[in-house]
Amino acid sequence: MKRDLSEKIESSIVSSSLVKKISAPLDGLLNRMFQSGILRPLKLFLNGTWIGHPLHPVLKDIPVGAWTFTVIFDLAGLLFNVPSFGLAASVTTAVGILGALGAAVAGLMDWMDVDPPEKSVGAVHAILNVAATVIFAVSLFMRWQSQWQLSWTICIVSLVAYGLMTFGATLGGALVYRMGVMINRNAYAHGPADFRPAIAAAKLVEGQMTRVDVDGQPVLLVKTSSAAGAGSASGTGTIFAIGAVCSHYGAPLNEGKVEGDCVRCPWHGSRFALADGAVREGPTCTPVPSYEVRIVKDQVEVKMRV
Ligand code: FES
Repeated sequence: MKRDLSEKIESSIVSSSLVKKISAPLDGLLNRMFQSGILRPLKLFLNGTWIGHPLHPVLKDIPVGAWTFTVIFDLAGLLFNVPSFGLAASVTTAVGILGALGAAVAGLMDWMDVDPPEKSVGAVHAILNVAATVIFAVSLFMRWQSQWQLSWTICIVSLVAYGLMTFGATLGGALVYRMGVMINRNAYAHGPADFRPAIAAAKLVEGQMTRVDVDGQPVLLVKTSSAAGAGSASGTGTIFAIGAVCSHYGAPLNEGKVEGDCVRCPWHGSRFALADGAVREGPTCTPVPSYEVRIVKDQVEVKMRV
């Protein structure tokens, strides 16, 4: 199969042992620091669970926008002799650096959950953006030394940094759109729209998770001792049904743990409410599908809740 240039670049990154060697120690350190313990809430904040959307792509728009203005102010100021654009370019450079620092920290919290081979592409994406930020910081220092005057030297330094940032952004786009990193793993989960048989009610054991396939959708059934909730009463307990695939990176939730009225994902610890699939704890930002449950002639039936 013919591959375009960006696919060839991604392929060479993925097969590079050097990238793996560089990223492994950082990955280990981040996991030790943030995966559990007192710093985990900070990680979840930076993942963006609280806004229902990854924080990194929101923050990264700041440097992309600000540094684009830097380049425009530099070129327009020099070509059309507008000295006041020197100060404007300095301000946008500084704003971009602040935004890049925030985006970098949030991005690291996402990156530590990524699996190989995408992890290597994420590492190079980060290296390029850190390099761009450092070079923009050098250009800001040069601007300060020249008392915010425009110069072709500073402009060229900024253009080099802008080129690195653009290359890094291209890899970031490939991570999401080609490799499927940080997408909702239940984005295409539709139906069943009407009640469909899932399993014989007698087969469900209280407190245990059972994964079934209903109309091609993986569904997690949990029978709890609780009489309250959105599930269907069965004997002394209640049966809940939610999607069986974690929306974060697709872990099988049936291999996780039931914790009270939630299920905890076995891979990175996201928690979903049994009643409606809502996110109770990140790093995921997206709920899992939720199903209505009824029992007809000792048969558990489910349909997707809309
Ligand atoms: S796969 Fe990451 S929290 Fe579930």
